[in-house]
Amino acid sequence: MNARAPSTSPWVMSGRADRMNPSVLRELLKVTERPEIISFAGGLPSPQTFPVAEFEAACSRVLRDDAEAALQYAASEGYGPLREMVAAALPWKVSPSQVLITTGSQQGLDLAAKVLIDPGSRILVETPTYLGALQAFAPMEPQVHSVASDDEGVDITALRAAQLAGMPARFFYVLPNFQNPSGRLMSEARRAALSSTAADIGLPLIEDNPYGELWFDTPPPAPLTARHPEGCLYLGSFSKVLAPSLRLGYLVAPPALFPKLLQAKQAADLHSPGFNQRVVAEVMKDGFLDRHVPRIRTLYKAQRDTMLAALQRHMPEGVHWNRPAGGMFLWARLPAGLDAAALLPQAVARGVAYVPGAAFYAGAADARTLRLSFVTASPEQIERGIAALATVIREIQP
Ligand SMILES: Cc1ncc(COP(=O)(O)O)c(C=O)c1O
Repeated sequence: MNARAPSTSPWVMSGRADRMNPSVLRELLKVTERPEIISFAGGLPSPQTFPVAEFEAACSRVLRDDAEAALQYAASEGYGPLREMVAAALPWKVSPSQVLITTGSQQGLDLAAKVLIDPGSRILVETPTYLGALQAFAPMEPQVHSVASDDEGVDITALRAAQLAGMPARFFYVLPNFQNPSGRLMSEARRAALSSTAADIGLPLIEDNPYGELWFDTPPPAPLTARHPEGCLYLGSFSKVLAPSLRLGYLVAPPALFPKLLQAKQAADLHSPGFNQRVVAEVMKDGFLDRHVPRIRTLYKAQRDTMLAALQRHMPEGVHWNRPAGGMFLWARLPAGLDAAALLPQAVARGVAYVPGAAFYAGAADARTLRLSFVTASPEQIERGIAALATVIREIQP
């Protein structure tokens, strides 16, 4: 049954619209925008990392030298020099013709969903996984199977069993680097096993990698796509290394997939903003990211250390958390009997917010988990916010 809007309205919504859920995260962000709240909830990069002067100079140069093309309609594939830069920066052999510039990597997920999912198709995801991907996939009506995962990523035996039991899955969606939400990093051994298993059982992979550059001590092992390019669709983003408002990302697709993704892109928005693409290419030329990204790493590592120290200092017995080796998020688990969603109103009343982990599970949720972003709050706010959260947990602990 299609949902009918209130009786005075002539609009009838599609079944697809019914499957669209308001993002819990966006709803939450509204509360956390209140200035008195210390928010560990958002998935926002630190504004301190935005290279404002470089953007200012690049915008002027683009408008001075290339305004007509920059302000005109353009090719759906993306701006040629930017596609070349993307291809050249990836650690495996990529032709620029395989690179499609997208309106954020979120659009890459949407295009993949349209091209790869029929109603009832099985798809496999990690436990937990990125909520925005679940939102992009949901309108295409897949059966989503959440594959058991541990601190190093997906459980290979469970993945094999999931693919061999019943209808083969269209793809496995995987975030090997500093996963959103858990911050975990997939080890080299697990990557090797996943890659060979996926090839063995004919399971395509969608590898989503917006955080891979944000490592703190050592770079992550090679991407899955580098090991098996034919069987992988790779998604990247400029949001976390330059600025999210550009809404620029990219995908790297094997020849078998590229033309359909391009058609889906044409239908979606013709092309991503040509002006933004030129500005990004202008900012990035001469190796700017090689100088800029290390500054982000240094800042985020210090922020992570501040949060780890505050957790260590304040949290009562029974609260556990991980130590992410990169990215923006830390994953914590409350003592038995507590529910992170139920606790949130009390935390907000005490002036601190986080995202309850349950939002990130496609299957049965672990209600004790929560995601803490360590990048946007100041060190002083991290200290106060974690202390406040610890007080709330202590007060409610059975
Ligand atoms: C895992 C993951 N994929 C994709 C995205 C979308 O990023 P964007 O569309 O800004 O490139 C995000 C944003 O937070 C993310 O965490």
